[in-house]
Amino acid sequence: MIEMNDISKRYRSGLFETVALHRLSLKVARGEFLAVLGPSGSGKTTLLNAIGLLDPVDEGTYRLDGVDVATLDDAAASRLRAEKIGFVFQRFNLLPDLSVRDNVALPLRYRGIPRKAQRQRVEVALERVGMMARADHLPGSLSGGQQQRVAVARALVGRPALVLADEPTGNLDSVNARRILDLLQDIHAEGATVVMVTHDPGLAVRATRRVHLLDGRVIEGVADGPAPSEASSWR
Ligand SMILES: Nc1ncnc2c1ncn2[C@@H]1O[C@H](COP(=O)(O)OP(=O)(O)O)[C@@H](O)[C@H]1O
Ligand SMILES: [Mg+2]
Repeated sequence: MIEMNDISKRYRSGLFETVALHRLSLKVARGEFLAVLGPSGSGKTTLLNAIGLLDPVDEGTYRLDGVDVATLDDAAASRLRAEKIGFVFQRFNLLPDLSVRDNVALPLRYRGIPRKAQRQRVEVALERVGMMARADHLPGSLSGGQQQRVAVARALVGRPALVLADEPTGNLDSVNARRILDLLQDIHAEGATVVMVTHDPGLAVRATRRVHLLDGRVIEGVADGPAPSEASSWR
């Protein structure tokens, strides 16, 4: 489903240039649950944003389900994103002035789904993550774990083929982290492709495959290594 070849991405600020992705190649097949590991600054978020069509790359080719994304204009990229992709972020990214229900409905609104169908699907998604009782609350009145469950409901409400999660448990205690991982595993079991960024090897073991990033590259030889400690002894 994801096919990236020789992807490079640079950030320029003033005189400085950072190479965030360096000729990175990555394939993810439909139905995989991939964990992307790597230290802070290794390019994980940049990679996920590129996969999710949030940020274009400078070089290389990226095909999503066979479509060369470089050929898409902004509107077409947004449409593809709304149809295919659900996001979960470390900082939840819920809109503070919208109720839980309205936050979860957003992906369906972007897709122009009729209101009544929206409402039903939102309720199914909220039941699923155990947050239906808080449907009319504002995100600010919820705990971090609860906010992330709402964010997961928002990511799954449109039944996207691809779910992208950027350190989805980074702000959660271990009990809530496990709960979010359970949900991601369920979504995967139902057929979604999942790409999760994490720096926690204990969470990454729950994926079906792991890749390690360092300095914007996939480290060869430990592409599916069980733990980063073994990765460093390999070097
Ligand atoms: N918007 C930006 N402007 C300038 N540099 C950036 C920007 N975003 C990321 N970077 C740099 O790109 C590199 C990769 O960042 P990032 O993808 O966020 O890494 P990670 O998610 O693995 O911590 C880092 O060196 C970071 O400082
Ligand atoms: Mg990051």
